[in-house]
Amino acid sequence: MKPYYLTTAIDYANGSPHLGHAYEKILADVISRTKKVMGQSAHFVTGLDEHGQKVQQGAAKEGIQPQVRCDRIANEFQKMLVTLGIGHDDYIRTTETRHKQVVTALLQDLFERGEIYQAEYSGFYSMRAEQFLQEKDKVDGKWPEIFGEVTEITEKNYFFKLGKYQEWLLQFLEENPNFILPAHRQSQVIEFLKEPLNDLCISRPKDRLSWGIPLPFDQEYVTYVWFDALVNYITAAGYGQEDFTKLWPADLHVIGKDILAPPHAVYWPIMLKACNIDLPKQILAHGWWTSSGEKMSKSTGESISPLELVNDYGADAFRFFVMREMKVGHDAEFSLERFESRYRADLGNDLGNLVSRLLHMCSNYFDSVVPENYEPEQPEIELQEKWKVTHKTSLEFFEEFQFSLGLDQISGFIRAINKYADERVPWKLAKSSDAADQRNLQNCLSNMVEALRLANSLLVAVMPEIHSKINERLGLPPCKSWQADLSWDNRLNGKMIKEKIILFPRK
Ligand code: ME8
Ligand code: MG
Repeated sequence: MKPYYLTTAIDYANGSPHLGHAYEKILADVISRTKKVMGQSAHFVTGLDEHGQKVQQGAAKEGIQPQVRCDRIANEFQKMLVTLGIGHDDYIRTTETRHKQVVTALLQDLFERGEIYQAEYSGFYSMRAEQFLQEKDKVDGKWPEIFGEVTEITEKNYFFKLGKYQEWLLQFLEENPNFILPAHRQSQVIEFLKEPLNDLCISRPKDRLSWGIPLPFDQEYVTYVWFDALVNYITAAGYGQEDFTKLWPADLHVIGKDILAPPHAVYWPIMLKACNIDLPKQILAHGWWTSSGEKMSKSTGESISPLELVNDYGADAFRFFVMREMKVGHDAEFSLERFESRYRADLGNDLGNLVSRLLHMCSNYFDSVVPENYEPEQPEIELQEKWKVTHKTSLEFFEEFQFSLGLDQISGFIRAINKYADERVPWKLAKSSDAADQRNLQNCLSNMVEALRLANSLLVAVMPEIHSKINERLGLPPCKSWQADLSWDNRLNGKMIKEKIILFPRK
């Protein structure tokens, strides 16, 4: 079977990583791990977008070469990936030879086939946004603040014939209603395509921008932003090499909503179509992390560095928080209070307490050998029913990338295990020498161990480190297959487990 090929946006080498970048990489990592534990191999690519005006200007300001600055930023982003426990298979940088070759080849091919042409263009140009603007970009007859200074310029440039594919793309989207997730985003793209689509300017004169890949058919120009950045997805799959189709088409592009339309939902499908390359199967557009209602960005991100939180609380608590807190596709507000509250409640009180009190009781009452289970009675039946529902619904949510809802199910099951213990009161049963009480005690601890093993198996993709720690306590290797590990069979009966552990220390 072809590996599940998934990508993230490649981050712009123009500043330090922030929560938005961290979230996206975690989301893709969780999807990749989910695919693997569901039995499919996965190939997960992320990387860095290194060309462009702001990168060039940033380097100039520091008085260093752009590549030197990119290397430093690449290092920072790659460190973040390690810190977050991201298990990517490839890291692509757009200044790598493998990428420049692919971009060059595509441009040459499109030029030779008349899909790229030269034209004189005059228009309003925003330095800050690095783009030509149109009258329709005005708000109340003025250029909005976000464009900074806007000047009228005339220059020769190269254009890609985007417009001629408009009808084709509309039809494609109508025939493939699941191309873009969540669904309401696909409707927005269709709306966008009801307006006439202009051809895309894909070049910048070298005297204005030198930090880019030169056009193979005109060395006075470099290619501009999207024609360079988007191509990374096929570079990383080995475009032009024999085994390209072993990975391509991509199964999923994970990106933020700000770069959905037009770049990923319009330019990219059309570029591929014009090059006779298959389209990716799906695009998942996530929402924004906001801080006091504003999108977090390079400038606002500094107050809450994801990496600091990870240092204080561990990568998995952070991974759990972002996956639980953000409903995929929607925005979410970040606050330290929200983070701390989930850390205390969902992780500390629910999961952490379950693990420590259960292991403590097993050690105290049974020298850490998991006791036998007996015929289930009402409390056991209820817990097992709860597991059946949790198992089914959380997997369904995971398959739809609805990790927040899936984790909510799992947390609900963990609370049910704690509630089961409160009902069975094993700490009281342990004090009784009555034979029935002793049987109930054994039954209770055996089933609690089993329920913990199952809940923990479902956490492997979101909290791989915590998962391994818990399984290690249970004498188990990390879960590799949900197929193998999600049935209620009290398989640890008679097995030796370990002493208690504090997973989420109080802060
Ligand atoms: O757009 N919340 O790079 P980038 C959630 N190089 N996600 C956020 C976010 C926030 N506050 N801020 C940014 C680029 N992101 C291009 C991509 S892909 C061929 C080229 C997300 O560093 C953003 O939506 O500005 C994007 O998906 C990713 O971080 C990189 O953003
Ligand atoms: Mg951005």
